[in-house]
Amino acid sequence: MKHLLSTRDLDRATAISILDVALDMAALGTRDVKKLPALRGKTIVNLFYEDSTRTRISFEAAEKRLSADVINFSAKGSSVSKGESLKDTAQTLDAMGIDAVVVRHSSSGAPHLLAHSGWLDVPIVNAGDGTHEHPTQALLDAFTLRESMFDDDARGKGLDGLNIVIVGDILHSRVARSNIWLLATLGANVTVVAPPTLTPPGIETWPVRLSHSLDDALEAAPDAVMMLRIQSERMKAAFFPNAREYAKFWGLTAARYRKLGESTIIMHPGPMNRGLEISGEAADSPQSVILKQVTNGVFVRMAVLFTVLTGAKGDVHE
Ligand code: NCD
Repeated sequence: MKHLLSTRDLDRATAISILDVALDMAALGTRDVKKLPALRGKTIVNLFYEDSTRTRISFEAAEKRLSADVINFSAKGSSVSKGESLKDTAQTLDAMGIDAVVVRHSSSGAPHLLAHSGWLDVPIVNAGDGTHEHPTQALLDAFTLRESMFDDDARGKGLDGLNIVIVGDILHSRVARSNIWLLATLGANVTVVAPPTLTPPGIETWPVRLSHSLDDALEAAPDAVMMLRIQSERMKAAFFPNAREYAKFWGLTAARYRKLGESTIIMHPGPMNRGLEISGEAADSPQSVILKQVTNGVFVRMAVLFTVLTGAKGDVHE
């Protein structure tokens, strides 16, 4: 695997191998010295054209734990605000001799452009592009699902037969798209619950079951319910009447949480709008794995960077 651009084109064996490498990375996390020399001498640029807290910090932590040299670029305060194009930025980075780029961009397809333009010839990792894909988020979600469902013997396994409900702003969500492709590849059954206004056109061709009732979907006691953030910054119209109305029909309210079976885990990629798509009670409950998702994000990103930069598939032991 040279680049990680999407989960749609990730085959099952590669996905499982990344998750297994991430297990090795997680094992390192329990040591006194958490650092591995695997990427010593490699320079990784984090190219962030869009705001981010956890993804940016998570990639940086992953890079540092693998001993890479890290350069953080954020569009704010760079020559981008002087009108520099993606091409010129890419060629500038290439001229400096960097080894990999992690890119987040508000335009869907920007990472593909970097990977296939010939402007620079290094591995590109997509950290979220527009409403298109966010592959490392889907991989860390799959890792968290394996961890929650299989305890110690997750190695080599997919997510066959698990029932996952994804709820909310599917229309604007790259997290939903990446999860839907990866979950299907790993054998899970996905039900999508969204208001009609936030359901993407053409969803009938996706490998999901569509429902417009959150209560019905939760009644079926899924293995996991994944709540999505309402992405107001991407909304150019009114997609629902108001926050109270949204929470009532589509939110994991305290009342819905209390009815949820104990075996259903609660996921959210963050950042959360508490009180809108998820109540504090649900987010902070024992069934919530939201902070585990954050922890696992570092291991999964270590595994992805290790894989694209060393070409290695398996053993990360020194
Ligand atoms: C997501 C993103 O930026 O796509 N956040 C994240 O990376 N953890 C989801 C979101 O912003 O709602």
